[in-house]
Amino acid sequence: HEIPPTICGMPLKYVSLVTLAVQNAALSIVMHHSRVSTPPSQAYSPALAVLLNELLKGTISFLIALSRVPQVAERPWGRMSFGNIIRELPYPWTAPFWYLCEEILGPDCWKLSIPAILYVVQNSLQFVAVSNLPVASFQVTYQMKILTTAGFSVSLLGMKLSSTKWLSLCLLAIGVGIVQIQTSSIGSAPKNLAVGSAHDSAPIHFHVMSPLKGFGAVTAACFTSGLAGVYFEMVLKNSRADLWVRNVQLSLFSLIPALIPVLYSTPHISSSFLHDIFRNFGMWAWATVGIQVLGGLVTAVVISTSSNIIKGFATSLSIILSFLASVILFHFRITPSFIIGATAVLVATWMYNQPSTPSKEPSFPNSGR
Ligand code: C5P
Repeated sequence: HEIPPTICGMPLKYVSLVTLAVQNAALSIVMHHSRVSTPPSQAYSPALAVLLNELLKGTISFLIALSRVPQVAERPWGRMSFGNIIRELPYPWTAPFWYLCEEILGPDCWKLSIPAILYVVQNSLQFVAVSNLPVASFQVTYQMKILTTAGFSVSLLGMKLSSTKWLSLCLLAIGVGIVQIQTSSIGSAPKNLAVGSAHDSAPIHFHVMSPLKGFGAVTAACFTSGLAGVYFEMVLKNSRADLWVRNVQLSLFSLIPALIPVLYSTPHISSSFLHDIFRNFGMWAWATVGIQVLGGLVTAVVISTSSNIIKGFATSLSIILSFLASVILFHFRITPSFIIGATAVLVATWMYNQPSTPSKEPSFPNSGR
């Protein structure tokens, strides 16, 4: 029996779940604020934020993986004959670096290309969604991820769902629907009065929100989240590679799709290229990127120590946190229909996470489960 990993004496599994809940609440609030609080002419580039997220996450994952090399170094060298080169190196202390490079560029690294592209698309859609919906509506609607994750777990992993779980999924859809109906009334607000929340007396923001666009983006993001999450879990639990090596591979494959929109949005590569792409990239933009990086790292830990399904439960907790924060920060008034919809989502999340018979959980041949 392996001893479960701990952090400051507490089980990593629970620390990561709580951190993810807090991170989720903080991300939608900070990201929403960073997008709606400035006029469009002063908006920062979301494509750059997605790229920086991948760069930072990849670098941190690489450093963590590097620090773990001595623990995994019993494995034989030489898959790409790096091992032979390393033995001849004049600087032996660089050996862990080369060893890690060999791991990262291993023959099955291509498997991460699929979730990598999906996550870049998802991270970009998230910016569209959060810029066009009030924070709490975004949070609740994004819970449809549970539905898509279940759908992909059934179709890709051959998982079977109990009737309670199907019932909870229907309740989830109804709850999300109720919230959606009440939020679409924002669309009837005067067009010249851009709004930042569902309530008439809310502070006026510069950004005109389009709930239809927001819901479209959040729905698409739910699909990429479900598919990418289940795929990542499958790759992780069907192989013995280190989580942090997998994360570096994920970030590496994300760099190309993340870089294309940044280059596309800057027609001339001149000496002021960096200055141009970083224009308006202020404190709130950096805060958004920082919280996203944390989220990516913690999500990876949660998928590896728990599962995508348990992750859904943790993020549903974050709805409560962001409700409270939205009331304080954005003068968001919680309407009765919002309470009914959100309650349905929370009850559904709770029902979905009730333990069922072990045989109904997805099985991963090499995971020991
Ligand atoms: O909403 P969801 O839980 O699907 O979001 C996952 C987020 O975590 C995405 O932003 C994705 O880029 C990130 N992630 C990551 N590394 C992983 C898994 C997810 O950075 N291994």
